[in-house]
Amino acid sequence: MSRLTAPSPADLAHIPHLPALPFVGHTLALLRDPYGLHRRCAEKLGPIYKLRMLGQWRVALAGREACELILDDKEKQFSAHHGWDMIQPIFGGGLMLRDFDDHRRHRRIMQSAFRKPVMDGYRSQMDALMPVLIDAWPVAQKFRFYPAIKDLSLRIGTSIFMGLSPDDPRVATINAAFMDEVNAGVGVIRKPLPFTALRRGLKARAVLLDTFRALIPERRLAPGNDFFSQMCVAQDESGGGWTEAEILDHFNFHMMAAHDTTASTIAAMVGALASHPEWQTRLIGEIDSLPAGAIDDAGLAAMTLTDRVFREALRMMPPVPFIPRRATQDFVWKGTHIPAGTWVSCLPATVMMSPEHYSDPEVFDPDRFSPNRAEHHGARHVWAPFGGGAHKCIGMHFANLEVKIFFRHLLARYRIEAVGKRPVKWRRLPVPRPVGELPIRLIPRS
Ligand code: HEM
Repeated sequence: MSRLTAPSPADLAHIPHLPALPFVGHTLALLRDPYGLHRRCAEKLGPIYKLRMLGQWRVALAGREACELILDDKEKQFSAHHGWDMIQPIFGGGLMLRDFDDHRRHRRIMQSAFRKPVMDGYRSQMDALMPVLIDAWPVAQKFRFYPAIKDLSLRIGTSIFMGLSPDDPRVATINAAFMDEVNAGVGVIRKPLPFTALRRGLKARAVLLDTFRALIPERRLAPGNDFFSQMCVAQDESGGGWTEAEILDHFNFHMMAAHDTTASTIAAMVGALASHPEWQTRLIGEIDSLPAGAIDDAGLAAMTLTDRVFREALRMMPPVPFIPRRATQDFVWKGTHIPAGTWVSCLPATVMMSPEHYSDPEVFDPDRFSPNRAEHHGARHVWAPFGGGAHKCIGMHFANLEVKIFFRHLLARYRIEAVGKRPVKWRRLPVPRPVGELPIRLIPRS
């Protein structure tokens, strides 16, 4: 994709903003309380405003229609490659950081790793591995759920995506490296100076790429059922596949996209279930009514209450709350001229918390997704934790599968007991994580 020129401050002078600190601008305020900052901006400035973040002015377009404009991108005028610039040094080449025809070609190749028979294989592997990992957790004593679910989700990832054994000693190194990569995306200093998050992130990227590179020759020779093997041999209909460098970029992004988001969502669900025992009772009833043995499509489809809790957790705690792009051409939105090169974001998180679309949006109420209420069907992108349009999350069904299999095994064994202060506070960026790591107790059901 060609270079874009950033607009000058004068080009954006007509777009309002709240007072910004020198050098860091709104970055720290955004990291501290992104929802609060966006709420204040929208109340005081209206649906179009700018924030100074990570060294650039970035224009926020609030409201559901802005999600439609940016995500559907009918005019092909919003670049994800340039919009996600903050993670470019670490995740460059990943599917989400590609645009237009190039993106479509790569997405078509990746699609083959999500075909139904391949997904069925992931389902059986997950269903077999999940109880083994859950059984390793402490019972009837306090433990920190968030690090435990991060570790579990990574072991699922390294097993199903990479074909490694769950107790492979490389898993701990890989986990630490992914955390450094993710944190590098929001490091305030944007040069890889010593001791900066970006420097640590780049080092982590090198470690991970070396680990993945070592696997390519064997997987190309004898591909297994794992995702990495699928990517090594994946082709589009014309027989085109990926080079070694492309496989590494895709896989590095993919592992991060799959594991941090799902771990955060499961933690949000567990936190909510600990505070709402009546919902645990309902989910336990649903899980106990599933036929014994390996889970199949019918069993997954029957988990409608679990699905409602999943949707509600994603509404209240979306792992990707704001979606950035960069305008490749001038455009006008609600009467405001926005020049080419401007960073623009839509805000699914604030749309999903808006009383315009959801009744009592601050209240945990999974039944809002029941067929007779279906508040999320009000209009397009009213519920958009997986984004939309060309870049809509390719792993959405995988995430749903993993979450259902996890709760099926967890709640068949235990009730979740809250420990410590309620409500739990969350740090929302870069990916939501509970402050205090979400201590809980697992109480055996019988
Ligand atoms: C609850 C879990 C998840 C959430 C909330 C989530 C959310 C998202 C969102 C919002 C996007 C679009 C970003 C944009 O438009 O700029 C996205 C893209 C993506 N996600 Fe997910 N994701 C989740 C799980 C997963 C999983 C499990 C995988 C892999 C198995 C995955 C792989 C990807 C990939 C490869 C993309 C880029 C798609 C493209 O650009 O075409 N995600 N995800």
